Amino acid sequence: MLPWYHKTTIYQIYPRSFMDSNGDGIGDLQGVIQKLDYLRDLGFETIWVSPFFASPQQDFGYDVSDYLSIAPEFGNMDDALQLIEETHRRGMRIVFDLVLDHTSDQHPWFLESRSSRGNPKADWYLWKDKPNNWHSMTGGSGWHYAEERGQFYWASFLPFQPDLNWRNPEVKQTMFDTARFWLSKGVDGYRLDIFNTIYKDAGFRDNPFSWKLVPTPDDTSGYFQKTVHSQDQPESFELAREFRKLTGEFGEVLTIGEVAARRGVLRRYAGEVVNDGLTLVFDFEMLQFKFRAEYFRALVEKIEAHFPPPFMPVYVFCNLDKRRSFHRLGNDLQKAKILAMLQFTARGVPCVYYGEEIGMTNLKLPFKTALDPIPRKYTFAPRFIFDWLDVTVNRDEVRTPMQWDGTRNAGFSSAEKTWLPVHPNYAEVNVENETRDEDSLLNTFKRLLKFRRENEAMQAGSLEFLGGLPPNVLGFTRGSRAVLLNFDEREKELQIEFSGCVFKLTGREEIKEKAVRLNGFGGVVLSSKDDPFSAQ
Ligand code: NOJ
Repeated sequence: MLPWYHKTTIYQIYPRSFMDSNGDGIGDLQGVIQKLDYLRDLGFETIWVSPFFASPQQDFGYDVSDYLSIAPEFGNMDDALQLIEETHRRGMRIVFDLVLDHTSDQHPWFLESRSSRGNPKADWYLWKDKPNNWHSMTGGSGWHYAEERGQFYWASFLPFQPDLNWRNPEVKQTMFDTARFWLSKGVDGYRLDIFNTIYKDAGFRDNPFSWKLVPTPDDTSGYFQKTVHSQDQPESFELAREFRKLTGEFGEVLTIGEVAARRGVLRRYAGEVVNDGLTLVFDFEMLQFKFRAEYFRALVEKIEAHFPPPFMPVYVFCNLDKRRSFHRLGNDLQKAKILAMLQFTARGVPCVYYGEEIGMTNLKLPFKTALDPIPRKYTFAPRFIFDWLDVTVNRDEVRTPMQWDGTRNAGFSSAEKTWLPVHPNYAEVNVENETRDEDSLLNTFKRLLKFRRENEAMQAGSLEFLGGLPPNVLGFTRGSRAVLLNFDEREKELQIEFSGCVFKLTGREEIKEKAVRLNGFGGVVLSSKDDPFSAQ
């Protein structure tokens, strides 16, 4: 029997953009509560909610100034507790987002730490008289001068997000207690922000040279250096195991690590031999997927090699930081359906970003007026370079409000102005429209979610590739089921032994005796002869 966190389906909510219940233009926790029925009916089992804790919101919640209270624009403690309860009441699970690596520079701990060299929290952050050569993840030195101490502090991400000193036992204890706090309130797990940067080299040795300029989702080396001393330290792998023990005090708890690293490294966060580290780790190479059967065959093969059972991979095609998958697909509905079918039939936990289910796409916005702090660092550079490099600099573009219906502000908010503009395609692309259209992407997601829930083979079955398929067709078995996906616009016919068809993606796939004809971008799931459920 798989633990629940290895068979679940995850829906990521960016609460600022999901649903605004009080008309201030910013999404909030009551808004999320209002939409829980939508998510339950759609069929997701777990929601992950991006941070809503007290914060100056310079990085919209990923800069926490108090882990145990709620930012007023999102609600209050009662709302957070009600959200947990209401999620559970619907038979779903809820995962919070925990930022262990850094706090806001407005956190009282940091204000105290920076005030002098002798205060009780002087050693809670990383202070040095002289910076080494390390770059931050967003480019440029990650060392920043604080006059009060006459020293530099280290920030892995942005300057207002100073890194905590995890080698200080008091820090570690406090952050562990923070994790226990929300678990004791009933949350079912954590998404762990930039987990692999928590520990740095104790001696702060310079990072070595690399030819790599641009960091990629699967390897944050870049800006001409390898991040060997600033990330992925042995202590971080050990922390994954310690954190697993901690969460174990509360039963089966999901932990999903945000780690931008090569697959061999990802695996070490899940465990060396058995899955005794984080229960899941994101795999970000696929955020830059190419829409070809050969690409996905190679991807799934590599994933299976690194995360064989009892490890469980994660399939994620977009998130709050990277280009939306629908945009990457050239806003092509048929391709989006095939991609979703792969995501829900491969062996792994699917993780879907809000709006992905209706085909929300990027909204092009200028860097100069961005609310996201990153693009403001890069206004000097011509935009096309980043597009060409496939780097999402302005994350506002993928965080626009959820499109619920065709009314003002897409039904997201009654405010005059929403915090980010609503995508102008909302009159057409919205939940209400797609609920009515049987062939919509939304209804395809719904069918896939139901199919996955009702077919244990889709959760637990091992994965073996099918050979001898026509070009641009991907095929694999999941236990007693065979999945066939046509990534091509041309139809494909193939011979195969099977006893029945249990899922059709478009309805235009043709089942013949010992053969299947897949229409362009068609997909089927077949059952095998010895499958006891095949008669249905
Ligand atoms: C990764 C998060 O996904 C991103 O949105 C955030 O800005 C950084 N971590 C810093 O916490």
